[in-house]
Amino acid sequence: MTSKLSMTQSIRYWAVVPAAGVGKRMNADRPKQYLELAEKTVLEHTLLRLLAADVFSAISVAISTEDPYWSSLATATHPKIVRAAGGKERADSVLSALTAIRTEAADVDWVLVHDAARPCLMPSDIHRLIDTLNNDEVGGILALPSHDTLKNVQNQYITHTVERNKIWRALTPQMFRYGVLKSALEASVGNLAITDEASALERQGLQPKIVEGRPDNIKITRPEDLALAEFFMRQQLMEITG
Ligand code: C5P
Repeated sequence: MTSKLSMTQSIRYWAVVPAAGVGKRMNADRPKQYLELAEKTVLEHTLLRLLAADVFSAISVAISTEDPYWSSLATATHPKIVRAAGGKERADSVLSALTAIRTEAADVDWVLVHDAARPCLMPSDIHRLIDTLNNDEVGGILALPSHDTLKNVQNQYITHTVERNKIWRALTPQMFRYGVLKSALEASVGNLAITDEASALERQGLQPKIVEGRPDNIKITRPEDLALAEFFMRQQLMEITG
């Protein structure tokens, strides 16, 4: 792997946002990233949070080629936002968004992949992830320890209780080097078990690090999550303004 940047140039940060899903579990008339939340779409909130962190050279967003909503968003024409074609699975969309910035990004640059459906991300979480992993060999992800007791189940019967203290829930952003992430995803094309970036790196024998994130960084999945996200946004505003 060769870097396009010389050692004297500084490493840059890129954001990748897969936003080409249909969000079937929402039972809505449009993909969940375009549902309204506090006067904007979910996707606009997500992009504004990433822009507010003020660290990214560009934000590459994977949008379905049949998407009729994207061009009407105010953020679609922001100079830091690049549109890429969405793919069949989430990993295909991420790979396409990485390819869209390949002429500018160096293999050693960091990429933070963040779900379009997580609009409550706080810029402070982005900075903590970057500060913790900046000197790490592999990179890592925001995650939350599991507080529930977890059961392994087969045909609706419990086979055993999972050791809870070893279980963390994977969130996004997930932060890896451009070159390592791209080749790990290319090696995993067609593998449906790859549901996040970390799992593609794990398949290469690498061990991403866990950085504890905020519990309000929820993923919009079901209809009731919109009300929850709105509540968290109000709380965050109070936290910021005091
Ligand atoms: O469906 P799920 O919530 O797991 O999707 C996570 C993220 O991946 C969402 O932001 C969704 O838009 C995106 N995605 C994508 N391309 C796909 C499937 C999902 O960009 N083919």
